[in-house]
Formats: sequence, structure tokens, C-alpha cells
Amino acid sequence: MADNQRLICASADLQERSKGIRFDLSQHGEHLTGFVVRYEGKPYAFVNRCAHVPVELDWQEGDFFEPDGRYIICATHGAHYEPTTGRCEIGPCRGASLQSLQVEERDGNIYLKMENHD
Ligand code: FES
Repeated sequence: MADNQRLICASADLQERSKGIRFDLSQHGEHLTGFVVRYEGKPYAFVNRCAHVPVELDWQEGDFFEPDGRYIICATHGAHYEPTTGRCEIGPCRGASLQSLQVEERDGNIYLKMENHD
């Protein structure tokens, strides 16, 4: 069952509305990263690619939240995303969404649930 899960980090490394943790999602020669943040106690993960222009959200590595910790923000043009859904609520791509990734927190760790392509 654990075959299709990948360890991302220890739970203790992911603090509420603080720095997010990036991880590699590159495949088939395409460079891609994902990230996980903690919001209201739960981990939420997304592909690190803005819904407006396909750039990474964080200019400063791991800085995904705007200063008051309410929204995930894109550093390029300021799109504000709802942390629980990835939906853009404010900004140039309002109504569009980040691509969400499934994560599971158990036994003091956070795991990425990999898609099964079979
Ligand atoms: S590239 Fe993210 S808001 Fe424009």
C-alpha cells in the first residue's frame, strides 16, 4: 500500500502558515516542483505552477503565504489562492486553480500519494 507514496518531510518540519516545503515532480524531462503547506492544522499540496502564467509561485524558496497567512500567493503578479482548494480568489487568474496533489499525514510524516498510471 505504501508503494505509491513518497515521503516528503517530517510533520514537525511543516509549521502552520509558515514556510512551505518544495519537492521535485520532474518527469519525462520536464522540470516541475510541488509544494506542501500547513493551513488550519492540515497539509495541502499543489504543483508549484501559477494558474496565470506557468511560473513557480515562490520567489523566495518556500515563501508561499502572503504576510497575514490567509492565502497562498504568487510572487509574480500577486494571485491569491485559497489554501484548502487552490482556487484563485483574488488576482489575474481569478476562478482558476492550482493543480492539487494528494498528501497524507501519518506517523509523524507527510507523504505524497503518487498517481497510479496503470
Ligand atoms: S504569474 Fe502568477 S499571478 Fe501572474
